[in-house]
Amino acid sequence: EGFFTYDPGFVATAATESAITYIDGANGVLLHRGYPIDQLANSSNYVEMSYLLLFGELPTDEQYKEFEKTIRYHTMVHEQIANFYKGFRRDAHPMAIMCGVVGGLAAFYHDHLDITREEDRYISAIRLIAKMPTLAAMSYKYNIGQPFNYPRNNLNYAENFLYMMFGNPAEEYVINPVFAKAMDRIFMLHADHEQNASTSTVRLAGSTGANPFACISAGIAALWGPAHGGANEAVLNMLDEIGDDSEENIQRFVDRAKDKDDPFRLMGFGHRVYRNFDPRAKVMKETCDEVLSELGMADDPQLKIAKRLEQIALEDEYFIERKLYPNVDFYSGIILKAIGIPTNMFTVIFAVSRTIGWISHWHEMISGSYRIGRPRQLYTGYTERDYPTKE
Ligand code: CMC
Repeated sequence: EGFFTYDPGFVATAATESAITYIDGANGVLLHRGYPIDQLANSSNYVEMSYLLLFGELPTDEQYKEFEKTIRYHTMVHEQIANFYKGFRRDAHPMAIMCGVVGGLAAFYHDHLDITREEDRYISAIRLIAKMPTLAAMSYKYNIGQPFNYPRNNLNYAENFLYMMFGNPAEEYVINPVFAKAMDRIFMLHADHEQNASTSTVRLAGSTGANPFACISAGIAALWGPAHGGANEAVLNMLDEIGDDSEENIQRFVDRAKDKDDPFRLMGFGHRVYRNFDPRAKVMKETCDEVLSELGMADDPQLKIAKRLEQIALEDEYFIERKLYPNVDFYSGIILKAIGIPTNMFTVIFAVSRTIGWISHWHEMISGSYRIGRPRQLYTGYTERDYPTKE
């Protein structure tokens, strides 16, 4: 008693066993249930990958059909939830709305909240995966003052999300297949990343026996920070701030990132675990090039700044020494922007994607043996002292 390992930021402490995702940071390897992320991103889709993460194996054709259909038919949300949105200010950040609304889901879907029952856990997982895109699109529609768009069961996961975001009752919305494919790939590339800050938050909350909706809302809160999911929004804001792709201008920002007296960091650079390249960033960069050239936007000014910035940073001693490479968020923002998604929705989309990761980890923990998470501390405060006696 009284002697603990001190590991701020959990750099060297494994808090759990897990069979979901494997990362080899030194070699830039990311495997989900054994399958390399680039193979999944190129050949699978988000719904199939969700099945894989949740259950551990790829589905058979029949299992896939059943799972996909179940998700399709759970995309609507309780009508009362629309009123819940209406309590927020119109100019609220959509992540603030998501923290509240997803936490509130337990108030609407409490018929299957017995976490000791496999069936209840499954129904809650399906509800979360299916309803997150609906809730995300509603937060956007609320922001811009348009009516909420009900989901359409004839559309697939990514198409439905785009439809709910951009469709409106006044005109027919035609889904661009390039956008839908890119959207699905963004969902896949963010689906899981073992014990990152938000997933660890979900596990910690879940270890108390809290319901899955409450746990996922805790994950959303942790994801919001600029060091984690908020980075994709921060990347675009940074590219805006840099403004032009002249050599000396970009160099000025790189120099600021190196200056220890300046809090500015290159957003979308660096990762706790990857000390080589981020394998997700590689696929994301390819997707970015693909999408922009298909849209005839290969000369996009922000893409130019991003590419030049990457080049300059990768040749700089500071970034080489510290093994700082572009991470998944460096290019995802540019793709999302090309699709027409506003910057303040980027992190919300990360939350939609990561929901399957969070729920798979929560399910893995609850269906195995677990203890309440309860970190210790090194106390640095006063030793015992007497309360001053009053006259
Ligand atoms: N720009 C400039 N310097 C950096 C950066 C950066 N983006 N990232 C790390 N460093 C420096 C840092 O100052 C430190 O230098 P020194 O050793 O001289 O003190 C060294 O590199 C190690 O950094 P650290 O802060 O100890 O690393 P960490 O593992 O605690 O943090 C990180 C990892 C991702 C929070 C950090 O690299 C960062 O803030 N990056 C920018 C934000 C970002 O892109 N986050 C998205 C991560 S990927 C998506 C996700 O999982 O959510």
